[in-house]
Amino acid sequence: MEEGIRQVAQWIIHAKKTVIFAGAGLSTESGIPDFRSPGGVWEKYNPEDFYFQNFIASEASREKYWRMATEMYGPIKKAQPNPAHLAIAELERMAKLDCVITQNIDGLHHKAGNSEEKIIELHGTATYVTCLNCKKRYDRDEIQERLRRGAKVPYCDDCGGPLKPATISFGQSMPERETEEAYQRSSACDLFIVIGSSLVVQPAASMPLVAKRSRAKLVIINRDPTPYDEMADLVIHGQAGPIMAGILNDVKKDLS
Ligand code: APR
Repeated sequence: MEEGIRQVAQWIIHAKKTVIFAGAGLSTESGIPDFRSPGGVWEKYNPEDFYFQNFIASEASREKYWRMATEMYGPIKKAQPNPAHLAIAELERMAKLDCVITQNIDGLHHKAGNSEEKIIELHGTATYVTCLNCKKRYDRDEIQERLRRGAKVPYCDDCGGPLKPATISFGQSMPERETEEAYQRSSACDLFIVIGSSLVVQPAASMPLVAKRSRAKLVIINRDPTPYDEMADLVIHGQAGPIMAGILNDVKKDLS
């Protein structure tokens, strides 16, 4: 593993554009469960209850959705960036990060110190709520307070439309600007580093392929194997926090 960490540090130092691609595995060491590991979200909840069509179809399914979303928001609200998030923020400060494309909705890249324009949130964010009808934005904690006080399903104060966390659910269209920018960045980089993703959800999981086809080096840092491992230039199986801390350490040593 040491060998691999040193190699990634060298590639980061010499790369012109390094893109980091993050999945839920980046945040498990911050106390937020991922989706497909044992004990993950999809073991606890049925993904179908999160389908966008269900949410807009009935009051009952919106009520069920908000009950689950409230449960999932607890660990997100409490979570602090772990050494992997902090390393990604430090790489930006060292001008060694083109951008971080994240599938995560926990806002931990912002908390870690990455700047807004360097973060591409492909699946939206759980940190605020929007009205599906008029797009009005609400603070997430304000809406959680309404639910705590007994509201079953929150509706918009202005237009009465249904409120939903600003995350992208299955069946909901991807955010156009972010998706376009992620494709553009993935095709223009010369180093693409996946951290903590099973790489099974499209279109996000096509980004490593776009990078590889544009002759970027592909690195995968993940606890378990992924379908892209054999096409990667380097795979490190292990915990994201210690691995990213090691890579950052080697980058700093070689640059000092
Ligand atoms: N360090 C490294 N890898 C880890 C760690 C860790 N501490 N914890 C978990 N992993 C790995 C797991 O081995 C797994 O392969 O992270 C991966 C997480 O995979 P998923 O749970 O499928 O998460 P992700 O790839 O982000 O899912 C993509 O699916 O349900 C949708 O919208 C949801 O954005 C999510 C998307």
